[in-house]
Amino acid sequence: MKKNIITALLFVLLLVSLHAQNTADDVADFILSTYSTKSFINTPIQAADLEKILMCGIKAPSARNTQLWKFTVVRDIALERKVISNITEGNILIIVSGSEKSQPGIDISFDCALATQNMYLAAQGLGLGAHIYTGPVENINKNLKTTLKIPEGYKAIAVLRIGNKDSRVDATTAASKRKGYSEIVNESTK
Ligand SMILES: Cc1cc2nc3c(=O)[nH]c(=O)nc-3n(C[C@H](O)[C@H](O)[C@H](O)COP(=O)(O)O)c2cc1C
Repeated sequence: MKKNIITALLFVLLLVSLHAQNTADDVADFILSTYSTKSFINTPIQAADLEKILMCGIKAPSARNTQLWKFTVVRDIALERKVISNITEGNILIIVSGSEKSQPGIDISFDCALATQNMYLAAQGLGLGAHIYTGPVENINKNLKTTLKIPEGYKAIAVLRIGNKDSRVDATTAASKRKGYSEIVNESTK
């Protein structure tokens, strides 16, 4: 009887460790499978998905946990067109802004980039399309801060576009090439 219980416990432990291994592998494989969505369709995204994506941005780490960022959701098509002229209806833009006040030891662009990437991956993980843009940032900061209701004292750092993606575009054709491993990775030697 005792032996059976121990065997059962060991089996459960094995399952738990296998599951943990799978989860880690799944995350790595998932990251390796992502690409910036180039073709969206106009089916709107679910409110619950958007909220979860924003929560993932809020969860991002920041220097000294200062969280000096704001996320502005733009869903009005006329406003969205001011940011990305050929935007697909039903897409949502999240403008990630960082505090204009510089603080020693804090690189606000870096923190905002982490929040943006968290939301990018969350959207992709939910099966949605996502694309990061910094091209429109200059125009936003020069001309659109009031129109888009970017909070006072903050400047746009990045724009995240999310929406449902065109399922006819497969990951292989949409993927952009990366430099080779040895071109990027080196090791410090004595
Ligand atoms: C910080 C940043 C800024 C970007 N800005 C733009 C942009 O302004 N316009 C655009 O079309 N794509 C933009 N992209 C998308 C990149 O061009 C894209 O990530 C890169 O080509 C690699 O392709 P992949 O994401 O499909 O692997 C940006 C990506 C990042 C990370």
